[in-house]
Amino acid sequence: MAIILDGKKLRDKILEELAQRLEKYDSRPTLAVILAGDNPASRIYVNNKKKTAEKLGINSVVINYPSNVDETTILKKIEELNNDETITAILVQLPLPEHIDKFNIINAIKPEKDVDGFTIENSGKLFTGIKPHAYPCTPRGIIRLLDEYNIEIEGKHVVIAGRSNIVGKPLSQMLLARNATVTVCHSRTKNLAEITKTADIVVSAVGGKIIGKNMLKSGCVVIDVGIFKDENGKTRGDVDFEEVSSNASYITPVPGGVGPMTIAMLMSNTVELFEKSFV
Ligand code: GUN
Repeated sequence: MAIILDGKKLRDKILEELAQRLEKYDSRPTLAVILAGDNPASRIYVNNKKKTAEKLGINSVVINYPSNVDETTILKKIEELNNDETITAILVQLPLPEHIDKFNIINAIKPEKDVDGFTIENSGKLFTGIKPHAYPCTPRGIIRLLDEYNIEIEGKHVVIAGRSNIVGKPLSQMLLARNATVTVCHSRTKNLAEITKTADIVVSAVGGKIIGKNMLKSGCVVIDVGIFKDENGKTRGDVDFEEVSSNASYITPVPGGVGPMTIAMLMSNTVELFEKSFV
């Protein structure tokens, strides 16, 4: 049976360390979150981020816009947040309403306050091997979880299913920097199962596609980034957990694996940007 990669336990440990780290400062970080539209999942994520920040003593402000907000309004707000010295981190919750150019919005964020590491400056740095101001939270959380369980990355074949700017692409670069051999698969990949069968570590970030036991080599490490509610209302991921956990070596549960790690890394990034703002 696979060992469970417990994201909740590690999140709690990280948050405790961050709270202690913040005790020595007279001031506090402030995370500004922009939420446009009424995507229910985004609302839940943003509430979670706000609640977790508050528990740690990180101030947070959420700026809500209706789904018909125009780009200029958001750009003006970002400029105001960039120039406000009390704001140390800015996050624009994705997805944005379709009429808005998300790249324009993201790239308006001052790179030093870009807590997701999504701006061209920060992602460009990541892709060229220069340290960005912040690393994207979900990839960072995945690597932190692997490290916590002493799972070797160097020389391993990691297959990532999903090529998003939020997970697949930045994760591939972060793993390359750790000397993994990385294959990135996506919706047009032919014979996905043949590729995943050669993996030492599989990361699935496609959303709703079932990864079953017959797609994986025995003893493989399985990281499930997918999260959705099935027809019975049960929260589940991309991986058939019951089946796969019988012959994987390590596996993340959904919920309780990657999700809590993303929040922990967001808080960690927020604290780090705050600390760097002094120097
Ligand atoms: N939407 C889904 N994941 C993320 C994330 O990590 N950051 C932001 N800003 N939006 C998201």
